[in-house]
Amino acid sequence: MSTVDPRPADTAARLPHRLPDGSVLELGTATAAYQIEGAVDVDGRGPSVWDTFTARPGTIKDASSGATACDSYHRHLEDADLVAGLGVRWYRFSIAWPRIQPEGRGRVETRGLDHYDRVVDALLERRIVPTATLYHWDLPQALEDEGGWLVRSTAEAFADYAEVVADRLADRVGVWATHNEPWCTAYLGHSAGVFAPGRREGGGAHRAVHHLNLSHALAAERIRAAHAVDVGTVLNLAPVWPERPEAEPLAERIDALRNRVWLDPLVDGEYGESVLAVAPELADAELVRPGDLELVQGSADWLGVNYYTPTRPDLVVPGRPPHPEGAAYPGVGDFDLVVREPRTDIGWEVVADGLEELLVETHRRTGLPILVTENGAACADAERVDGVVQDDDRIDYLRGHLAATHRARAAGADVRAYVVWTLLDNFEWAEGYTKTFGLVHIDPADQTRTPKASYRWLAQVARGEVTP
Ligand code: NOJ
Repeated sequence: MSTVDPRPADTAARLPHRLPDGSVLELGTATAAYQIEGAVDVDGRGPSVWDTFTARPGTIKDASSGATACDSYHRHLEDADLVAGLGVRWYRFSIAWPRIQPEGRGRVETRGLDHYDRVVDALLERRIVPTATLYHWDLPQALEDEGGWLVRSTAEAFADYAEVVADRLADRVGVWATHNEPWCTAYLGHSAGVFAPGRREGGGAHRAVHHLNLSHALAAERIRAAHAVDVGTVLNLAPVWPERPEAEPLAERIDALRNRVWLDPLVDGEYGESVLAVAPELADAELVRPGDLELVQGSADWLGVNYYTPTRPDLVVPGRPPHPEGAAYPGVGDFDLVVREPRTDIGWEVVADGLEELLVETHRRTGLPILVTENGAACADAERVDGVVQDDDRIDYLRGHLAATHRARAAGADVRAYVVWTLLDNFEWAEGYTKTFGLVHIDPADQTRTPKASYRWLAQVARGEVTP
């Protein structure tokens, strides 16, 4: 299955892989360190907030953790072969901060850097463009013990970490993301408490928002000072569609925390009125210090958009409890969420037009080149033929969303890549291993990797044999 580049490895390894030029829509697939690597106590890795959180009873649906996951730390060559077999050009992976700085700051663990060196070289040898995400939620526990994202010093530590990693890899990795879905870190982690670190701070979660925004800008500045690479951030933006006119003010408040609290500072260098109306904490001059927002403005060369489903807020029906997701929107007030059919196995409504609208709108708002850094479906994956998962529902989902991405491009949105979440069935955070998004099935007993029908389909798309 290997499609190894016949050129010597060191030639391939020096190719500067910057943003694609947009002449065609590039394809890729993605993973994240804690979801696939396992090996949590190997080569000097320190504990992360997800190790701590998963050890707390009741946090994860099947009481599992990423301790073993897909064992990709040891099987990354096999995984690189799987990406090569797909024939896609991009592979988005994340770096585990606790492998690089086990105490979160200071001492650098060379064995951690050596690992990602090998990951990058294995990809380049297979002619795959590596793109690295610096933070996919696995904060070193030592930093959490000092206040985590609620304190400014974490943003400063993040910039130091980013510099260490870029100094090792930026000669071969040309596209960098600072954060992945900071909305989840800030609000699921610090308001709803359903993701690590499991805090319930209400409006205090907006402190995490600002430090995440600031940390992106500090890290981007530091990386660019030393390396000619493209630095962006990855947001889980969502179209917010009020269910009826009376729900419009509610939709505006949700939109403020889901979308604008990230885009306003990047584009306008401020937290706009609609954001401050729900998050008055962001007007605190002790938190948002002079110069912070100027630093964030214009600090992304590109924007990653992760899209799965739209948000359809509605007023709470009297006598019915409000939607639990309300806990992730402090200051917004109680609301209901309408979810129509069809839905994926995780209960998210399938609406490909939502992606088209989001891409067109986000490009209009930001003017930035956009990569769809995640899109995919959790499916039950029950049907097998000759041991191969027949995930036609996932194929339908991907086909529809890939077509929507092409429509957005035709409508003028500068979308350069479409990256499928995810290569492997893996640790799906609070859902544990109960929900599978992978193109490749993993047998938990012996880690055997078996490509699903969707993998074969995506390979055909990549070869131009089928058009979505
Ligand atoms: C977003 C996250 O970035 C990823 O880690 C997660 O597994 C998928 N969405 C699916 O929930």
